[in-house]
Amino acid sequence: MASIAASARRAACCAFRAPARNNVAALRGLATFQLGRLNHVALAVPDIEQASAMWRDALGASVSELQALPDHGVTVCFVDAGNTHVELLEPLGDASPIAGFLAKSPSGGLHHLCHEVDDVEAAMADLKARGVRLLSEEPKIGAHGVPVVFLHPKDTNGVLVELQQAIPAEDS
Ligand code: CO
Repeated sequence: MASIAASARRAACCAFRAPARNNVAALRGLATFQLGRLNHVALAVPDIEQASAMWRDALGASVSELQALPDHGVTVCFVDAGNTHVELLEPLGDASPIAGFLAKSPSGGLHHLCHEVDDVEAAMADLKARGVRLLSEEPKIGAHGVPVVFLHPKDTNGVLVELQQAIPAEDS
């Protein structure tokens, strides 16, 4: 029979173990990059005109122009939330990656979180080496004109996480 000390040690070492179907359980080692600030929270919406008007007129937010991103299958705009942005996403085209999301949640919902990292390619190599699944082999150019990549939501507690290359602060 295991001693109390041994079972306490086992409990401590297993305290942060993810459920078996979450691949994070297989993680090896620690990140060699640092997760940066929350750049935006993205909401999938069925009607971006209506959604952007709601944020602008009903909530008093400053909202950017609509931007069509055919390569990503979305039309986007950004709500200035002061310390971060809210990205509104409407499907664009027949193969939009958010069409399935809206089929399940027709009135819209939380689609992803986006954090900045200094170097997306370095972060991707590091994550891959430690068993975190990515949704693409190469980074894509996102709405801000910088490289982005998405992590598999099964490895991030069911919420899609985007990493976006940080834009260096301009010298003043
Ligand atoms: Co995004």
